[in-house]
Amino acid sequence: MATALIILAAGMGTRMNSELPKVLHAIAGAPMLIHAMKSGASLDPERTVIVAGHGATAVGKVAQDWDDRAEVVLQAEQLGTGHGVAQASGALSDFSGDAFVLYGDTPFIRPETLTAMSAARQFHDVVVLGFDAADPGRYGRLVTSGEVLERIVEFKDASDEERAITLCNSGVVAADSATLFDLVAAIKNDNAAGEYYLTDIIEIARSRGLSATVVRCDESETMGINSRAELAVAEGAFQTARRAEALADGVTLQAPETVYFAHDTVIGRDSIIEPNVVFGPDVTVESGATIRAFSHLEGCHVSRGSVVGPYARLRPGAELAENVKIGNFVEVKNAQIAEGAKVNHLSYIGDATIGAGSNIGAGTITCNYDGVSKHHTVIGARVFVGSNTMLVAPVTLGDDSMTASGSVITRDVPAEALALSRAPQEIKLGLAKRMFEKLKSKKAKATKGA
Ligand code: UD1
Ligand code: MG
Repeated sequence: MATALIILAAGMGTRMNSELPKVLHAIAGAPMLIHAMKSGASLDPERTVIVAGHGATAVGKVAQDWDDRAEVVLQAEQLGTGHGVAQASGALSDFSGDAFVLYGDTPFIRPETLTAMSAARQFHDVVVLGFDAADPGRYGRLVTSGEVLERIVEFKDASDEERAITLCNSGVVAADSATLFDLVAAIKNDNAAGEYYLTDIIEIARSRGLSATVVRCDESETMGINSRAELAVAEGAFQTARRAEALADGVTLQAPETVYFAHDTVIGRDSIIEPNVVFGPDVTVESGATIRAFSHLEGCHVSRGSVVGPYARLRPGAELAENVKIGNFVEVKNAQIAEGAKVNHLSYIGDATIGAGSNIGAGTITCNYDGVSKHHTVIGARVFVGSNTMLVAPVTLGDDSMTASGSVITRDVPAEALALSRAPQEIKLGLAKRMFEKLKSKKAKATKGA
């Protein structure tokens, strides 16, 4: 059955106290809206409609950068969740199939949970996702009788008896798309908040002879984010779950609580991640690689058997082939490093390619930027770059070539050649001794005078 997602993301998020629309605040390096879209993507939706309001342009751009088929509709005034869903009716007027309503600020709904809702749709016209809340607080309460969902009552409108119910509304709803929009069109705003409550569709559906039920999920999935404090809790929850997943996948984490993952980090089996490693977005680490302590990686690929760090920084476009070594205080950006090459100490490798088996000496810098444009450095295979070489790009070092330490290389070096470019060394016999004596006597005179 074809599926459409309607993701409500129009709210201002006043309690975030932010210039940024709430749904664009990030968890594990991705806006929470993307987390919601990713969980919805597990239904393989034919259509995705984002209902945007506050910061709609920015929200739409983020959604479409992630999925260029996502459609964005504007809810200029936020008159309630029911009103929000109604804004998607025009966009989906030509759609037939099931619609799932998700919230942009509820990032952790699991694919399995949505699948369970799809399954329940075979037997019921409207399916609501509920959870047993440890502290039901201000959530809407689900009034049930056996499998049947009779109605949802918002906290503000609930009686004491209803407030005692612990089964709460997550906000996620699934129904046939045309049916959903029919029901939503009948919602009124005669309630304590003066809002068009999406939750009213249950009573409306039942009055029309349609059936409604609840699928339950764990409370951790329905966590909604309304403040920076809740954002921090959500980040913590994500990290805890992701660390457990990495361990179960056969990755060694020596101090799991100090390793930070991004939403899309991929780490192969039998990799070792030492303490205090941070993964930014878009990192793949193949099996059997080691990421040593205090390293920071983003937008990079580390192949099998490579060792990175301690204290290394891999930036976007860093591609390490197998058995590469990147040592302490080395920064790599937009560079392909071939098999077995080593950059062991204190270097910057940016906009470069390094051939197999090359050794880049301590302190080597690719001078890739002239103040206006970036330029490329090509280092062939089996090259020995002497310590503290400055490679002024664009420049090429041929296979099996060598540079002398301290050289500033501005011209291409042919294969098998040695390039040497530094001031010739002079020796002044006895001069050090005379200098020391002179300096010491000067200091002694100065101290006496004081
Ligand atoms: C809603 C539910 C409540 C449920 C709770 C779960 C209703 C009436 N209540 O309450 O039963 O327990 O979520 O978290 O549905 N939004 C729009 N446009 C609007 C209003 C809201 O896009 O006009 C978006 C918000 O940005 C947010 C989501 O919909 O992402 C939920 O809205 P919110 O105001 O947080 O609803 P709650 O009062 O929490
Ligand atoms: Mg809310």
